[in-house]
Amino acid sequence: MTAVSPRPWLDRLLPYSPGRPAPTADGSMASNESLLGASASVSSAVASAVETIHRYPNPLADDLRAALGELHGVHPDQILVGNGSDELIYLLALAFLGHSGRAVCADPPYRIDEISSYAVGADVTRVPLKNWHHDLQGMASVTADVAFLVNPHNPTGTVCLRSEIERFVNTCNARLVVVDEAYVDFADAPDEVSAVDLARQGRLAVLRTFSKAFGLAGARVGYLIGAPDVITVLRKIRPPFSVGSLAQVAALAALADTGHRRRVRDETIRLRSQLVAALEGAGYEVVPSHANFVLVRCDDDAALVDHLTRHDVSVRGGSDLGMPGAVRISVPTERGLRMLERALRAGTTGEPPTIRPRLG
Ligand SMILES: Cc1ncc(COP(=O)(O)O)c(C=O)c1O
Repeated sequence: MTAVSPRPWLDRLLPYSPGRPAPTADGSMASNESLLGASASVSSAVASAVETIHRYPNPLADDLRAALGELHGVHPDQILVGNGSDELIYLLALAFLGHSGRAVCADPPYRIDEISSYAVGADVTRVPLKNWHHDLQGMASVTADVAFLVNPHNPTGTVCLRSEIERFVNTCNARLVVVDEAYVDFADAPDEVSAVDLARQGRLAVLRTFSKAFGLAGARVGYLIGAPDVITVLRKIRPPFSVGSLAQVAALAALADTGHRRRVRDETIRLRSQLVAALEGAGYEVVPSHANFVLVRCDDDAALVDHLTRHDVSVRGGSDLGMPGAVRISVPTERGLRMLERALRAGTTGEPPTIRPRLG
């Protein structure tokens, strides 16, 4: 019997390491989840949909695509729903990169952009951030099949303006530009940031998710808005039933509750400024964020992560995210913020000296 031999390029792949939950939901600040949870209407919609759980789901999530088409002012044929936006990133890599394809992304990238590219045997060029932002000029000069932009960027929370993205699309050496707008609801001015209206033409596609502002991370629903020929090729290769019927119903109910989505945005922005104030008050430098997390600079991210873990607060160390010397903290609930403040006070009164803030 021959030994199993994975494709050789998979050797350089490191698996994705997810954020760890804390003992309580309030202390869990590692995965950028919604601080208000999902709309109350989601659980009743899901409960009634359970009655037909023995049936396969609608393969393309037609009702959801129709509602999303209305929301974004695009034809439903320009929308593909996936098992989280992560599934759609894999499909993009399969269709547009493949063996010997070339991807360009920021350094640090969103890990799934990089993992999916390597998974299909493509090469990835990382272009370091400039002053915490995408270096669009640097990225535009790289010849690539796919350029991945994450806007707002994870893990910094910085944004490119829509006008900058339009210029990028017109000048870059990539065939397809994929803009991941997972966090766009939390931008100060989402309309000045979102590139959805550029997605009608073939060279740009936008990814959105129900995991953040809609509070459905556990349901696994994301979608892509793109030109019909991009959607057509992705439809050919997708698993036909990847979005479950309960997930489709949950997303439809979440979409209909516009008030809840607005409250999540308002509350996240309000608590984000309190989080920044608490961190700056403790002497930390915080990167100005348009997302539901902030990036904090520190000398030793592993020590800060350990310290906060001892106080039942879980955050993501920058070393896990390609950014050593920084820690990413999801905007917490009011109670979570009090827990974090207590933990920071404990840290600045002489606990481990390695977690002293880095200034300047
Ligand atoms: C930039 C970015 N894109 C996509 C996702 C994942 O989206 P989904 O849950 O829809 O797969 C995340 C999750 O943290 C993210 O940070």
